[in-house]
Amino acid sequence: MCGIVGYCGPQSAVTPLIQALRRLEYRGYDSAGIALGVRGKLFVEKRAGKLANLENALDIELPVVHSGIGHTRWATHGGPTDRNAHPHVDNDGKLAVIHNGIIENYSQLRLTMQERGHTFSSDTDTESVAYLLSDLRKEHNGDLVVAMREAVKILRGSFTLVAIHADNPDVIVGVRRNSPLVVGLGEGENFLASDVAAFINHTKRAIELGQDEVVMITPTTVEITDLDGAVIAPREYEISWDASAAQKGGFAHFMLKEIFEQPKAVADTLIGRLSDNKQIVLDELSMSVQEIRALKKITVIACGTAYHAGMIAKYAIEKWSKIPVDVEIASEFRYRDPIITPETLVIAISQSGETMDTLMAVRHAKAAGARVLTICNTHSSTIPRESDAVLYTHAGPEIAVASTKALLTQMIAVYLIALHLAQVNGALTDEQIEGLYIELLALPGKIEMILETVEPLRALTRSFADKNTVLFLGRNIGYPVALEGALKLKELAYIHAEGFAGGELKHGPIALIEEGTPVIAILPVADEHALDQKMLSNIQEVKARGACVIVIAQDGVHVEGAQHIIRIPVVSALLQPVLATVPLQVFAYEMALARGNDVDQPRNLAKSVTVE
Ligand code: AGP
Repeated sequence: MCGIVGYCGPQSAVTPLIQALRRLEYRGYDSAGIALGVRGKLFVEKRAGKLANLENALDIELPVVHSGIGHTRWATHGGPTDRNAHPHVDNDGKLAVIHNGIIENYSQLRLTMQERGHTFSSDTDTESVAYLLSDLRKEHNGDLVVAMREAVKILRGSFTLVAIHADNPDVIVGVRRNSPLVVGLGEGENFLASDVAAFINHTKRAIELGQDEVVMITPTTVEITDLDGAVIAPREYEISWDASAAQKGGFAHFMLKEIFEQPKAVADTLIGRLSDNKQIVLDELSMSVQEIRALKKITVIACGTAYHAGMIAKYAIEKWSKIPVDVEIASEFRYRDPIITPETLVIAISQSGETMDTLMAVRHAKAAGARVLTICNTHSSTIPRESDAVLYTHAGPEIAVASTKALLTQMIAVYLIALHLAQVNGALTDEQIEGLYIELLALPGKIEMILETVEPLRALTRSFADKNTVLFLGRNIGYPVALEGALKLKELAYIHAEGFAGGELKHGPIALIEEGTPVIAILPVADEHALDQKMLSNIQEVKARGACVIVIAQDGVHVEGAQHIIRIPVVSALLQPVLATVPLQVFAYEMALARGNDVDQPRNLAKSVTVE
């Protein structure tokens, strides 16, 4: 969740550092700071609050230096104050370090550092690392790289660390364990950052760093070594995004831009997924026919919105491939001793690929012998790198904290996996597969149709701006959609919102209905179970008790009892979530606007939760 940047090169370091931190603001933060590499003694400035506070503090005569590190902090240990902000500096005032993650053995480390005479000025876990690095550097002839290697051998937890020392200001050293760190390769200048958005306007050449790899950059060199000092060949790659993709593209907010990018994101994720002979192309799965046919169970693990994609996976995989599926909240999964066998396929779903709860669940599953397939939107992030296989969605950079286009592409990914499994184990014929794939191909156009008619919904939403409770009802595969609608509203409008299975209404939640309570119901597709009729009964029940009912219903479907109907194009039942979710995203977006909230960086939230 914290933003990490380092720069060395011909520019005056403050400019690229502040620019980079601004591009990382979307990660969510509550303080910021920089340290400049000045020979002999560092220049350090840090402030609680937004980046503007730091920029105001820097509006002074600054030393012209060409290297430095910068940080945006999302508070974990210690509140968001000036003194808890990073960088943290050793007692000589010469070594500065910034950190993303949690040092799990920091309290013991703090005691050890105090015993060595270091005086503390903050409540953070990171300050202990500044003193540890300072001592280790002195023990190793002033070599900051060796000091970093030795420090990592002592530290436990998840961290990205980047440090600089005033005696060698053109050298910046970094290391990563479970948290992201990438190198940006410029012309006569180099960058370190939590993610490529920080330097993409300077260079699209990047190097991914692996677990416990230590990197040293100067303006002209990049050296990567393991903890024993062995040199590691850089794994360079070209960033596929361009700088504009990480900007708002004319939309008021990243979230609105990303809602409107959904047709393209879905289309891109579907490209090339059906061969000429009607075979679903999922080479990434890298599982033989025998392995797929031997599967006894699939367990999906994820958090938040990605978990709702996992719930949809259950319906699709069981319906099409007849393989049993469990869906688990990642933070619960490993603590209940799940039954995992070699015939278990674990599917992790994560937009960022850095969610610590999901990463730890993946590790648990792998240690128990499961094969792990990850659905992810962020290339070379940690979770895909620790999985056996990865299916990348092609949503492009998702900057807004509230996930939208990533979710729809995750749905597409789970549909493709379900079809592939059904094709391999013979549960569906090639013709059935082709028919369903063609229906998937039609989804981008149908999403476009919804987006072209959102203005009335946006106006309607504003009429609910003063409401503090909104309920969402869904049945069958509409139930995860109801949960997602509620989550979006919680995280954006900061109001009490809950999603329920329609059949649960009379088992308690109906007591919540008061005069004027908004209830949004996702009307199922008519089927042999008459689920649509059951939902229409639910609508009557809540309306009879004063609810203001908004129904999401397909074109042409007769709806009784609703005050408002939001129409979506016709689609088969299992694919309806891709379309029904879009109006709920718009509803939450508009409620946030109407309530004056920060749409792209909602309070208390971060784009990627990289701590447990
Ligand atoms: C979604 O709107 C939320 N921001 C959050 O629930 C998110 O989906 C969750 O933290 C999982 O993130 P991931 O997909 O990057 O793992």
